[in-house]
Amino acid sequence: MAISVRPIDPVARPDFAGEVSGIDLSKTLSEEEVAAIHDGMTRFGVLVFHDQILTDEQQVAFSRQLGPLEDAISDLRPQRRISMDLNDISNLDEKSKIMARDDRRRLFGLGNLLWHSDSSFKKVPAKYSLLSARVIPPSGGNTEFADMRAAYDTLDEATKRQVHDLICEHSQMYSRSLLGFTEFTDEEKRLCTPVQQRLVRRHPVTGRLSLYLASHAGTIVGWPVPEARAFLMDLVEHATQRKFVYTHVWRQHDLVIWDNRVTMHRARRYDSTQVRDMRRTTVTNEVSSLEQAPPPL
Ligand code: OGA
Ligand code: MN
Repeated sequence: MAISVRPIDPVARPDFAGEVSGIDLSKTLSEEEVAAIHDGMTRFGVLVFHDQILTDEQQVAFSRQLGPLEDAISDLRPQRRISMDLNDISNLDEKSKIMARDDRRRLFGLGNLLWHSDSSFKKVPAKYSLLSARVIPPSGGNTEFADMRAAYDTLDEATKRQVHDLICEHSQMYSRSLLGFTEFTDEEKRLCTPVQQRLVRRHPVTGRLSLYLASHAGTIVGWPVPEARAFLMDLVEHATQRKFVYTHVWRQHDLVIWDNRVTMHRARRYDSTQVRDMRRTTVTNEVSSLEQAPPPL
């Protein structure tokens, strides 16, 4: 069966969030299939694949076909349940037991409930994230995606001019402090040194501009912090209006890929006494967003 991609909601969002069929991600992909996935990502920003029963090794192998992976560091899990090639997005500890409510790793992971773009706190951030649903809770735990191209396009002209050349500083300490998670070891603080990212970036293939926001963005270079944060909050509010958002309701064995350059996402709450086992591989952007500047105004 040949690969095909169709918009999930052709009326409300013809170019945001697509569903892919006719492909088995556990097998080595053909060049045509790899190209079709990249093309689908370029158009839709988010792609959903159903019924993909994958081992970790298969997920890693398939992800590598889309580009070089980043290491799964900085999730405060020195003792790993799964390999370093995957981020453990579950609520399970290294013994596969549900973490206690006050487990520090769980509380750190709750940062995923805030709107963000993966690894924007790394100098070289993420390009694609690939999240595989191995076990899902009986209810809740959806993931929402916001279209940051549409968010940029619908800014008024004055705001477009204002954001055009701004540089933000991103750190996981900012996003965690929003939730009152403020105690970090010296080593964690060192790992959380803020990095700079452009607020407006240009897609290298389509040339489309998008807002590059995340709850990790704690300030704007050259701005007083309270003014920067208030402005960033305004932009996030604009960017996450319901009309720009696709909500993914997970089925077991779904695999969803999103492009962190053109989307923000957040997890939604679920009953933390139920298992939610999600595993993420991440294709690196290879360069900083500082190298994806919009053309001069
Ligand atoms: C992630 C993430 C959201 C979720 O894997 O990067 O933010 O719903 N996940 O688990
Ligand atoms: Mn994420």
